[in-house]
Amino acid sequence: MHHFRYREGELDCEGVRLSAVAREYGTPAYVYSRATIEDHYLRLHEVLGEMDTTICYAVKANSNLAVLRTLSRLGSGFDVVSGGEVERVQASGGSLRKCLFAGVGKSEEEIDRALELGIHAFNVESRAELERLDALARNRGTQAPVSIRVNPDVDAGTHEKITTGTYQNKFGIPFEEVEDLYRWSRSLSGITLRGVHMHIGSQLTTTAPFGAAVRKMLPLVRRLKERLGIEFFSIGGGLGIVYDPALESGLSDWWKGEAAASILTPRSYADLLVPLLAPLDMRILVEPGRFIVGNAGVLLCRVEYIKQVARKNFAIVDAAMNDLLRPSFYGAHHDIVPLRRLEGEIVPTDVVGPICESGDYFCRDRPLPRLAQGDLLAVLSAGAYAFVMASNYNTRPRPAEILVDGTVTGLVRRRETLESLWRDESIPDWLDRDRSGA
Ligand code: LLP
Repeated sequence: MHHFRYREGELDCEGVRLSAVAREYGTPAYVYSRATIEDHYLRLHEVLGEMDTTICYAVKANSNLAVLRTLSRLGSGFDVVSGGEVERVQASGGSLRKCLFAGVGKSEEEIDRALELGIHAFNVESRAELERLDALARNRGTQAPVSIRVNPDVDAGTHEKITTGTYQNKFGIPFEEVEDLYRWSRSLSGITLRGVHMHIGSQLTTTAPFGAAVRKMLPLVRRLKERLGIEFFSIGGGLGIVYDPALESGLSDWWKGEAAASILTPRSYADLLVPLLAPLDMRILVEPGRFIVGNAGVLLCRVEYIKQVARKNFAIVDAAMNDLLRPSFYGAHHDIVPLRRLEGEIVPTDVVGPICESGDYFCRDRPLPRLAQGDLLAVLSAGAYAFVMASNYNTRPRPAEILVDGTVTGLVRRRETLESLWRDESIPDWLDRDRSGA
C-alpha cells in the first residue's frame, strides 16, 4: 500500500499536494512518503513475525540518511555493500551491530573499518575473501564474524542484470563447495562462523524461486547449525513490487487460478516460507530493499516542450536518464501520471529527457492524456534504485530529495549546485605553458 492518491483531481503524497512541493523545491525532485516506508517495513515484519526475524534493509536501494533513520527507528538492521554504505549507516545513527556486509570485492580498508565498528557479519563470497578477513581480524587481535553466501543455482526468473543465484553469476560459493569451505574456515583463528546467506535476485514477482532455493538450502542449513553452531540464515532480498498496475490487472484471469498462490505478496511469501523456515528454529534475516522503498517514492518533473514529428509525440521533460536510469538501463516500466488529473484525448507519448542520447526516455508510445508545456508529472515507483543510480551526465546536478510525513515536508537532500559538480576538478598550471618548453 502506498500513500500517493488523487484528491480533488490533484495528486497528493500523504497530506501534501505534490504540485505545491514542485513549486517550493523545483523540479526534477524525488519525493518519498514516510508512512509508505513504515507500512511496508511493518507489514513484512508482521507476516514473518512468528519467527525470530530481523529485517536488514538493503541500503543500496535508497541510502538517503532520512530514509535510513526512518527504518532504524523501527528497529531495522541494514544490508550494506561498501565502505560508503557502512559510513552512511553510522551517519544516520544506525547500528553496525545489526548490519550484514555483502559484496564480492570488499577492500582491506572496508573490512578493517567494519571490524572496528563491530559489524554483525560479513557475507563472504570467496575463499580469498575469507583469507583476507582472517588476516585482518588477527591483526586486530579479534575475530571476523562470517556468514558464507551460498549460490544455490536457482534461476530467479527475473531480468538478467539482476539475477544473482545461478552459476552464470559472480556471486556466492557454489552449493556443492560450501561445506568444505565452512570446514576449512574452522581452522582459521581469525574467523568466527555466525550464519549462512543466500540472495537469488531482485524484483521477483512469483514466490516459486524463493521456495525452490530455500528447499534446496534447508538440509545444508540444518547440518551447519548442528555441526558448526550457525546462528542465522539470511534469505536475502528480492521481493518484487508492482510497477505496472495495468499489467497486473491484465493478469487477473490467471491470478484467480492455481497460479494465484505463486504471485508474490508479503502474505504469499510468508505463507510459503514460514512453514519451511520456522522448524529450523534459527534467526532468519531478510534483506528487502525495493519492497520497502520502491513504491514509496516518485520523481517529479515538468514538461518543457511538446514536440510532434511524423507519427511521434514527444513530451520533453526536465528529468532525464541521469536522474532515473531504470527505463533506459533495464527497459523498466514506471507509470507516469500528471499531477493534475487530465481528461480527454489519450495519445501515444514518448516521455523523454533533454540528454543527448536516444536511450534517454522514461516511456515509449505510452497511452497518456494529451500533455502540454508546463504540465507537472510524477514518475511513479521511483523510491528504489532511482536517486542512488543517478549521475551527473551532461553536467546535470542531481535532484533534490524530499521526505513527506503527513502534512509536513522536509528537504532531505538539497539539489546539487552546478559549482559543486566541478569543485574537485583542477586545471594543472602546466597546461597553459607552451609545449616546446620555450
Ligand atoms: N541483498 C543482496 C545481497 C543484494 O544484492 C540485493 C540487491 C538485495 C539484498 C536487495 O534486493 P531487493 O530486495 O531490493 O530486490 N538496480 C537494480 C536492482 C539491483 C539489485 C542488487 N542487489 C534495479 O534497479 O532493478
